Amino acid sequence: MSTERLFTFKNPWFGAAIGIAGAMVVLSLVAGFVILPYATTNAPFAGLWDAICSAAGVPRVTSDSPTPKPPVVTSNVVMNSQMFGAPDARSVGRGATLAMQCAICHGSNRQGQVDTPNLEGQPAAAIYKQLRDFKAGARTNVIMGPFAVKLGEQDMLDLAAYYSYLPRQPGSHPDPVAIAPQIVAPGAPMRNVPACSSCHGINDAKLGAPWLDGQSAVYIKAQLQAFATGTRRNDISEQMRNIARQMTGSEIDEAARYYASRP
Ligand code: HEC
Ligand code: HEC
Repeated sequence: MSTERLFTFKNPWFGAAIGIAGAMVVLSLVAGFVILPYATTNAPFAGLWDAICSAAGVPRVTSDSPTPKPPVVTSNVVMNSQMFGAPDARSVGRGATLAMQCAICHGSNRQGQVDTPNLEGQPAAAIYKQLRDFKAGARTNVIMGPFAVKLGEQDMLDLAAYYSYLPRQPGSHPDPVAIAPQIVAPGAPMRNVPACSSCHGINDAKLGAPWLDGQSAVYIKAQLQAFATGTRRNDISEQMRNIARQMTGSEIDEAARYYASRP
């Protein structure tokens, strides 16, 4: 048996093996950090170091990186039932003056404006919250938005006091014997849709939930579709979005027609 030591550079085989292994490491580094990054991206690198950084996973900032999207605005309105006590006369009076600019669309003698909601007799909390949301951009509408932007905090409280003080207008196509469709009452418990009246009702109403009775079917349908598709997203905790997403197209139609037929 040979007494010659294996692991010494005097052994030509050992030297060659180390040399080959070293060459393979260098080759794979060049392939992984230089050749592949150049081959797999169409964004040109500023230099060799840039390519190496990119292969190592350092995020790259290039001129054609997509610009970040603006954040989605959601409602920041915080309300409690104490905020909307009995309206005081001065607030109602100021609200009446401010409301003159709104009457062209929201006045009680508006004709055929089916896309515009009735405001008379709406709970103050509902008016106030919607105005705040329009102003902040949490609810968007090209017609209504510009009017809300100009309003100050006290203006919105006064307008809410004024409209909630007015008596509710009768619906334009009342049908006092209309029977609530399934989706309105009892709702669809298997799909987590409670009865609408548990939040929009006369005896039971969620703070900030608007009246639906007597609104036009076109308006109600448009809002339900907007909640379902997420184009309207100002409902706190997605309460309405979760409901509208569970409704079928014909259930939306039925609910809209039913509420429009309410006296
Ligand atoms: C040029 C017509 C126009 C004018 C003027 C106008 N609005 Fe509106 N308003 C609309 C439309 C249209 C909508 C429904 C928007 C939508 O579909 O999301 C609306 C919605 C609203 C809502 C939401 C109601 C709800 O039930 O959700 C409130 C509150 C409101 N307007 C208050 C006002 C006030 C207060 C003024 C005056 C400062 C005003 N609007 C002026 C057209 C108008
Ligand atoms: C868990 C409570 C709750 C239930 C149940 C509920 N809603 Fe609502 N709904 C709300 C609230 C709160 C709002 C106001 C959202 C906001 O802040 O903009 C609203 C808003 C709406 C609006 C928009 C009204 C407007 O003038 O802006 C429509 C239309 C509507 N709901 C229809 C329905 C229908 C139809 C049902 C039954 C299938 C229903 N909702 C069940 C809480 C509820």
